[in-house]
Amino acid sequence: MADHVIAIDQGTTSTRAIVFDAAGAIVATAQREHEQIFPRAGRVEHDPVEIWTNTQWVLADAQKQARLTAADIAAVGVTNQRETAIVWDRRTGRPIHNALVWQDTRTQPRIDELIAEHGVDAYADITGLPLAAYFSASKLAWILDHVDGARESAEAGDLMFGTPDTWVVWNLTGGRDGGIHVTDVTNASRTQLLDLKTLDWSDEMLQRWRVPRSMLPEIRSSSAVVGEVQLPGVLRGVPIAGMIGDQQAATFGQAAFEAGESKNTYGTGNFLLVGTGTEIVRSDAGLITTVAYRVGDEPARFALEGSIAVTGSLVQWLRDNLGIIQRSQDIEALAATVDDNGGAYFVPAFSGLFAPYWRPDARGALVGLTRYVNKGHIARAALESTAFQTRDVIEAVVADTGRPLEELRVDGGMTRNDALMQFQADILGIPVVRPRVVETTALGAAYAAGLAVGVWPDFDALRAHWQVDRTFEPRMPQDEVDRRYRMWQKAVSKSLDWVD
Ligand code: G3P
Repeated sequence: MADHVIAIDQGTTSTRAIVFDAAGAIVATAQREHEQIFPRAGRVEHDPVEIWTNTQWVLADAQKQARLTAADIAAVGVTNQRETAIVWDRRTGRPIHNALVWQDTRTQPRIDELIAEHGVDAYADITGLPLAAYFSASKLAWILDHVDGARESAEAGDLMFGTPDTWVVWNLTGGRDGGIHVTDVTNASRTQLLDLKTLDWSDEMLQRWRVPRSMLPEIRSSSAVVGEVQLPGVLRGVPIAGMIGDQQAATFGQAAFEAGESKNTYGTGNFLLVGTGTEIVRSDAGLITTVAYRVGDEPARFALEGSIAVTGSLVQWLRDNLGIIQRSQDIEALAATVDDNGGAYFVPAFSGLFAPYWRPDARGALVGLTRYVNKGHIARAALESTAFQTRDVIEAVVADTGRPLEELRVDGGMTRNDALMQFQADILGIPVVRPRVVETTALGAAYAAGLAVGVWPDFDALRAHWQVDRTFEPRMPQDEVDRRYRMWQKAVSKSLDWVD
């Protein structure tokens, strides 16, 4: 019986295919990293063709490992790094520029002009988002403005825009030969082109960025059949039944479906989402309003999100740019060579600071250095910055909702680090709960797809899969927590106003 679901997770640093069985357990995983292209400071690109090649490779590898036949696979779900902008020619299927990645800040000057003219929240009422280079709209406009002839081709209807979900699904469903040009409501809500109230592209935003509507994908539900895979092999004809942005997918995978339920994912960055049900809640404290999911024809559900740009990617930076560790996982052992941070605090504002500050003028700061500080302390300060940034965002959640968070559900690769999770619980003063499956992003995409084709009947069936692995209780004395958080805030103040 077809009761397995394959999730494709097209992430910032790699693409994965994970096969899940009907119990939500992982049967096989295949993964491939893609190149991070840094043409100059502030610019981050990916090659969409490499991403598509990797997608095909991981799909083939995962099927082989799981020994799946066509009869086993009920559906494919797609989840992805959000906001990253890809523009391609519908006739050739070739991108007209590398993807502009969500971390790319090249459009900041244009954003600054708009903020000066209209204010940072000029479009928050329509889109739920502050004006920031993070979202897709300014990246899409940049490509149209900087690639020769792009605007004319776009006006002529020859170009397509998409976030990575759209690019992958267009290729999966045939590309130039009839590929389907679609996205889902969660990804659409990250473009800064979506009207949250109508869940359709906003004419005002399209005019603002001079984007022809014809290049935008159709907006679908997160859990619904959108088309069939057209690749040769066992996947041919399998329905693509889930499309959902990676942070929303992780929330889904944590079975946090209801208003007030939350999760924090530790990936390249950290993203905390708190559900607000069918209500569109505006933040006064630096969170953004986003679509959480939409299942079939039911009303969409919304969430408040605290987006932190740099957490796991700081570990990669220590590995690749400083070489103080060989592999990312070595950070845990290096940090354990010292008892504390030795007085060092690391604010990784590489792309400015996102939530709750939204300060594009911030840059990374490593402060509190003395002759005593060694690489163990720096490793520790780097890990601690993840926990401190999470506290900043949770303070904003509490300010917005007026309710303290009772516990924090966590997921993502970094949550395997017990010392970090203990420190997180200490700094927050609430229990941190790690589930058995921490790959909740892929799981959420599988859930969305499986729900649409009947592998699982309803949310209760998904909730039944969720199990605690370990709960970390806070144990640091309050005055020590307060002192360290105060020092962190001081360090943040040093990172601001850096850009000339
Ligand atoms: O908003 C960016 C986010 O979707 C990226 O997630 O896990 O690829 O770092 P990740």
